[in-house]
Amino acid sequence: MILPMHEQSLWHPVALEGALQSTPVPVRLLEQDLVLWRDSAGAPHAWVDRCPHRGAQLSLGQVKQDRLECPYHGWQFDSQGQCRRIPALPELEVPASYCVQAFEVQAQHGLLWVRLDATEPASPIPPFPDASSGLRLLNCGPYDVATSAPRVVENFLDMAHFSFVHEGWLGASDHPEIEPYEVQETPTGLKATGCRAWQPRSNLHATGAAQVEYTYEVLSPYSAALTKVPESGSTRISDWHEAIALFICPISPESCRVWFRLAMADHDSSDEALAAFQHTIFCQDQPVLESQRPKRLPIGARSDLHTSVDRLSLAYRRYLQRLNISFGVCP
Ligand code: FES
Ligand SMILES: [Fe+2]
Repeated sequence: MILPMHEQSLWHPVALEGALQSTPVPVRLLEQDLVLWRDSAGAPHAWVDRCPHRGAQLSLGQVKQDRLECPYHGWQFDSQGQCRRIPALPELEVPASYCVQAFEVQAQHGLLWVRLDATEPASPIPPFPDASSGLRLLNCGPYDVATSAPRVVENFLDMAHFSFVHEGWLGASDHPEIEPYEVQETPTGLKATGCRAWQPRSNLHATGAAQVEYTYEVLSPYSAALTKVPESGSTRISDWHEAIALFICPISPESCRVWFRLAMADHDSSDEALAAFQHTIFCQDQPVLESQRPKRLPIGARSDLHTSVDRLSLAYRRYLQRLNISFGVCP
C-alpha cells in the first residue's frame, strides 16, 4: 500500500550532472529558488539561492577555495552553508547562526536530485537501468514546458494521441484504435502491460511500420518509464529494445522542466542522432501539452471525460489523489 507523501520530501531532478561545473547554477524547484554549486572535491551542493545578509542571489557569486562567495559584499560560505568570512570585518569570528539553508542533493541517472524536506523519510530516487544493464544510456533535455508536471506524465502514458500528434512516426491515421490493456498497482506506483501500437517509425532504426509492444510504469508522482519492443525484423538492429524514462522537475504548479533518460540496445548511433529522434517526438507533444486547460491536472470527480482507453491516465489521477499530491493538480 502506498502511503500519502509530501512533494517536498520527494527527490526531484534539478539539473544535468554535467551542467554543473565550477560556476554556480540557479534552478527552481517547487517554487523555491536554489543555487547549485560544486566544491573542489566535486561534491554538489544545493542551497537556498538567497544570501542571508541582504538577500542577493548567491548564484550570481563565485566559488573560491571551496566556499561560495556572495556577489554583493563578498561574504563567503563553506560547504556546510556556514559563513566563514565577512570581508568588511576580516577579524570577526562569524557567529554560527550566520548560515545558508542547505538541502540534500545526490547524483543519479545523469541528473542531480534534490529534496527540500528531510524531516520525512525519503522514498528512493525512481529506478531505471544503469551501466550494469549493458544498454546505451543517454539524457535528452532539458525542456521547459509551460504546463504542470502531472500533465506531462499523463501525456507520456497516453497512447491514443499517437495517430494524431505523432502521425507518420509513432502512429498512423488509418490505425487509431487502441486495444484493451492491463493496469496494476505496484509497490511504488502503477504498471500497464499489453499495450500495443501500430507505428510507422517507432525508432531511429525502423525499416518500416511495425506492431510495437509497450509497458508503462509510473515510478513516482512526477516520473514514469516505458519500454518498447517492436516486432522482430522491423529494425536495422536485431533485438532492438529501448526504455525511456521521463524525469520532471516541478518548478511551479503550471510549469516544469523535463528530461528523458534513454536506455537502448544501440552502441553505434551518435548521441546527436538518438537525441534528435527524441527531440522530434517531444516537439510534437509540447504545443498540445501547453494548450491543455486547466494546466493543473484535474484529479477530482467532476473532471474531464474518459473512456476505457484512458484507464491508465485515470489510474494515474487516482494514484495522485491517494498520495495527497497537491502541486500541479486541481480538484
Ligand atoms: S547580500 Fe550577500 S554579502 Fe551582502
Ligand atoms: Fe506524445
